[in-house]
Amino acid sequence: MVNASKPHPHPPTPPSPAGPPPTTRQAVDTFTGFFRERGHRPVPGASLVRPPGDPVLFTTSGMHPLTPYLEGRPHPLGRRLVGVQRCLRTTDLEEVGDLTHLTVFEMLGSWSLGDYGTRQSLRWGHELLVGGFGIEPGRLHATVFGGDDQLGPDTESLAAWHELGVPVEFTREDNWWSNGPTGPCGPDSEIFVWTGDVPPHGTPGSDDRWVEVWNHVMMRYHRSEDGSLRPLPQRGVDTGMGLERLVMVLQGRRSVFDIDLFEPWMRTLPELWRLDGPQSRLVADHLRSAAVVIGDGVLPASNGRGYVLRRLVRRVLTTLWRDDPARTLGDLPESLVAGTLDHFGQQCPPAAVREVLLDEECRFAGMLDRGRRLLARPRFSGPLDEEDYHYLHDTHGLPRELIDLLRPEPVARG
Ligand code: SER
Repeated sequence: MVNASKPHPHPPTPPSPAGPPPTTRQAVDTFTGFFRERGHRPVPGASLVRPPGDPVLFTTSGMHPLTPYLEGRPHPLGRRLVGVQRCLRTTDLEEVGDLTHLTVFEMLGSWSLGDYGTRQSLRWGHELLVGGFGIEPGRLHATVFGGDDQLGPDTESLAAWHELGVPVEFTREDNWWSNGPTGPCGPDSEIFVWTGDVPPHGTPGSDDRWVEVWNHVMMRYHRSEDGSLRPLPQRGVDTGMGLERLVMVLQGRRSVFDIDLFEPWMRTLPELWRLDGPQSRLVADHLRSAAVVIGDGVLPASNGRGYVLRRLVRRVLTTLWRDDPARTLGDLPESLVAGTLDHFGQQCPPAAVREVLLDEECRFAGMLDRGRRLLARPRFSGPLDEEDYHYLHDTHGLPRELIDLLRPEPVARG
């Protein structure tokens, strides 16, 4: 990583006294209003479920439903778009429970489909963060693609940030964006906001109090199966800002779970099931995500999307039952599910979500019972080896994670 940071041009100043921080809803309105005033047409958010033929199980980024248009197909609404898209990322599943990771989250996005370029996008980004959201300019830092063995550094973004007086750090992999091994891609520039209690210092790569909020991707290439890059027929810009993380920064919270959006969940769950901080965050994230996934028509299954849903629900149950096996999702207040479905504009009745959750709970409880009986057999009294795991999986349908759950300290043999 090359550090192109300059001393911070703006001395840190206290947070803007311009009034209370925005709610999540107000942050969305400020974002979309800003881009609408600049000629962007709102695109409705799409389902998390991708249409047949899309190799990706879920929508993982705001640009995902716009892929053909970023590749050159004319969009019916024009060349400047703005939107809010629900996304699901399973790569972060193990990290959920910490302060900043969510399984289902929302992404604010703006797009130039062969219209304006890098400089304009970064200038508007800066204007919105500083003027629209009241973030002190001295709390901003950018990262820029520093070049690799195929391409040179992104000098356009670097020049734009220099004009704006924002310090820059160069990286390689962290500043290259693609939505998969093939398809549209390009260098990106990420904007970070300082969240420390002391004046900003260091760089995003060296101090994690710099929190990434907004990614501006210069969509310039298509990557083919053989790994080669060809320039796209039109140059576009795809920006994406994680809504919850932005609001966390604006509301001065340490965790995304402490913003207004999660308040009903975080007020209710710890009391209901006497959960500690990480448990509350995991249970809130997974149940809320499960509700949205079910709301988009997915049912638990042993593979694909349904398996992601199943894992979410089973991780919740594992967490709940570790302390008290009598806990049940039947106690989950319907208002939490209803509020979430409403927030995402989903038509699915809350009672239907509850039914799916309870059905999965019943199935999982049955499986645990069966697993316990099986693992009590003399054959499995000692440490398990790979053959045991295969046998238990192939013959009895017990996945490894479940076996490990039922045997607190499994030790692999041989
Ligand atoms: N596609 C980029 C991202 O998801 C910017 O929207 O980060």
